[in-house]
Amino acid sequence: MSNSRFRKPADVQLTVQYQKGLDIVGVGAAGQVYNVDEHIVLKACRIYEPPSEQDTPRASPCCGSSPRIRTRNIIEAIHTDHPEGIYLRKYQPLSALAPTSSSQSDRVHWYRDLLRALLHLHRLGIAHADLRRDNVLFDHRRHALLSDFGAACPFGRPNPSLPVLLLNGPSETVSAATDHFAMGSLIYELETGARPDLSADDHGALVLPQIHTRHAGLDALVENAWRGHYARTEDMLEHADCLDALPDSREPYERPIPRAELTARITQWRNTRQEHHGCVLYSLPTDLQLHILAERYGWNLDDELRFP
Ligand SMILES: Nc1ncnc2c1ncn2[C@@H]1O[C@H](COP(=O)(O)OP(=O)(O)O)[C@@H](O)[C@H]1O
Ligand SMILES: [Mg+2]
Repeated sequence: MSNSRFRKPADVQLTVQYQKGLDIVGVGAAGQVYNVDEHIVLKACRIYEPPSEQDTPRASPCCGSSPRIRTRNIIEAIHTDHPEGIYLRKYQPLSALAPTSSSQSDRVHWYRDLLRALLHLHRLGIAHADLRRDNVLFDHRRHALLSDFGAACPFGRPNPSLPVLLLNGPSETVSAATDHFAMGSLIYELETGARPDLSADDHGALVLPQIHTRHAGLDALVENAWRGHYARTEDMLEHADCLDALPDSREPYERPIPRAELTARITQWRNTRQEHHGCVLYSLPTDLQLHILAERYGWNLDDELRFP
């Protein structure tokens, strides 16, 4: 999501609205993620406190909803039509797995999981465009899932990480190759513990760091991804599938609680919030207020409709 939407007027100090009775499980560039219960989270836009009684509440107009896609290696959206945000099945961040630290074989299986998720997206002509450690979550059986579709868009759209970050490589537009590039950086980071130091020289050519993952196959996977050597995501996945690793000993994918039950819990939870607080989230702007703000600050309220 473009930062220009969150430019605040220079003379106004904005404070994020405190949501009574809600715990935050994650904070991202676009909004907050609140705990609903042990199996559900609510990803909401960042809502700001109205500075005074007379002023209009301010909020970023959307929370990075995902295209309605479902596959094993992509997090599951349970409900996407409520105005306060999107309800997601709850998973674990990488930091929560740390006590039982991972082996290189475990991680190779995660890379395959993520490449399968990318393959699914890429077959739909969609780039994730924000593939990094914070946007990878894990289910209770330690399968890696791709999360946060706030930047996802059809191939050919402008690369959202330029000009500052080389997250997706130097390409002006997103494609399968830009996600491969980010995947290379993610593997590098998970194997070495540091983000790669990537830059471009005076002629615009990429300057890559030495790659030492202690696995020659992984080194080659990262380098090929950075150099754009995979014509298709199938090729990168095939390469990952051929890497030396112990067999996958994880239990197969399974949803601990069926989707229909989660939907019923969301309805119940919203009713309880309404009863106790008079609203689901405090200071959520109305449609009319959003339109007024959009006009004032040049937001495009249809930005979420970028999928064909
Ligand atoms: N389904 C989920 N289950 C558990 N934690 C989540 C879930 N989705 C997001 N989070 C947490 O919230 C953080 C921010 O969410 P994210 O979707 O990445 O938002 P943003 O678009 O603002 O970056 C994530 O890094 C993660 O720690
Ligand atoms: Mg994120």
